[in-house]
Amino acid sequence: MRVGFGYDVHALAPDRKLIVGGVDIPFEKGLLGHSDADVLLHAIADSLLGAATLGDIGKHFPDTDPAYKGISSMILLKKTAELVRSKGYDIVNIDATVVAQKPKISPYSAQMISNIADCLGVDASCVNVKATTTEKLGFEGREEGISSHCICLLDNRKDDYSVN
Ligand code: CDP
Ligand code: ZN
Repeated sequence: MRVGFGYDVHALAPDRKLIVGGVDIPFEKGLLGHSDADVLLHAIADSLLGAATLGDIGKHFPDTDPAYKGISSMILLKKTAELVRSKGYDIVNIDATVVAQKPKISPYSAQMISNIADCLGVDASCVNVKATTTEKLGFEGREEGISSHCICLLDNRKDDYSVN
């Protein structure tokens, strides 16, 4: 078994779509980034790459590459799951937290879980998405940005801890 951790932050700005967990959430601001800036999917991808000792999302999908401009992070997460599987790992579970003062995430969490499970090729029962405010403290509390944290567990199909 291998555990992985991911963390990501994007700034909130006017005239941008707010895409979190593959859901387009109606809000007066959106997240800034080269891709669709889906802060939740980026944290999940980083946790998976971390558990598989495959580096991070920036290594595999550089934000200097025009191929990834405006790309849906669902595509990046799918590719990440393929990489992790090709290294011999199955995804056991995902547990993620979105840190946002606004908007309310819980009405969208079931759709996020379904999107994430589809990208990863796992059952929705293997994915958990939760949210918290920071009680108006810090950059998330001032609504300057949104962050996400994720941990995951992978299972080595070969039952060999030194797989390469
Ligand atoms: O301390 P706790 O996280 O319980 O309190 P909170 O930050 O006020 O959040 C209360 C609940 O609102 C959380 O448990 C989430 O279910 C939900 N929440 C949300 O849906 N979207 C957010 N952006 C923040 C919190
Ligand atoms: Zn990101």
